Amino acid sequence: MRKKECEQMIRIQRSIAETGGNTDNIVNLVALSRGKSNKKYALMEYGGDDLEYSSLHNGPFSGDKLKSTFFQAANGINTLFKAGYQHHDIKPENILINDKGVVKICDFGFATKIDETEPMVRSGSPGYMSPEKLYGLTDYPKDKADSWALGCTFAEICLGDDTVIMPVTRDMYLDHKMPYQDAVDILKKARKKAYRKLRKIEGEQAADFFWALTEPDPDKRLSPSEALEHPYFDDIHTSYKLTGLV
Ligand SMILES: Nc1ncnc2c1ncn2[C@@H]1O[C@H](COP(=O)(O)OP(=O)(O)OP(=O)(O)O)[C@@H](O)[C@H]1O
Ligand SMILES: [Mg+2]
Repeated sequence: MRKKECEQMIRIQRSIAETGGNTDNIVNLVALSRGKSNKKYALMEYGGDDLEYSSLHNGPFSGDKLKSTFFQAANGINTLFKAGYQHHDIKPENILINDKGVVKICDFGFATKIDETEPMVRSGSPGYMSPEKLYGLTDYPKDKADSWALGCTFAEICLGDDTVIMPVTRDMYLDHKMPYQDAVDILKKARKKAYRKLRKIEGEQAADFFWALTEPDPDKRLSPSEALEHPYFDDIHTSYKLTGLV
């Protein structure tokens, strides 16, 4: 792990501890050591396979497995959110699941503090970037980018499509040759298509969970805390509360 990433990881873990958050769904730092030539090493806990690998090898997720996986992923993102951070690179490769079904968010290389005074963060993977992030629109709320990315990841892992859900092109995120509204219209079309497929495969609540996370207007999009309260998760709340996960 690069030195900067290592320091960032320590800051994040400290903020989570200060805000009383649980790290159940975050890859935790196990130890730090100084190697030869003064290099720092960070030992992270092993989180299992990432969702991209897992869904490619074992097939798309469905039913209780899908629900539990994304409840925990939303919980991990909410832990970061409550500690004042956004991950900025939520996608299947950066969410891990072990053989017991425990989910952990990893790769904090792009994570930043949610700071209204800072310009819009534009790092991350284009296919999972929200419209306001793709276009760096500073007059939009900046704290809903992880929610959008979680929605895209949810649909991808459930539908098992080989390609990412949102057809983001270079002229949307690099040079902005395409006007913002045209890009939003294209993403909206893809969103509708994925919604219909999800409704057919996983039902109304799962499709609505995706829909609420990929709302183009960040003011209307679910926050990570609201995502946990979505009716899709109603039937698992009780068991998770009993085991103390939330
Ligand atoms: N703690 C962990 N436990 C298990 N697998 C992990 C862990 N951390 C990372 N991985 C695996 O390694 C991959 C790459 O790690 P990570 O996402 O942290 O780095 P990265 O900056 O994205 O690296 P790269 O660009 O080389 O993919 C992840 O997608 C995941 O499959
Ligand atoms: Mg990664």
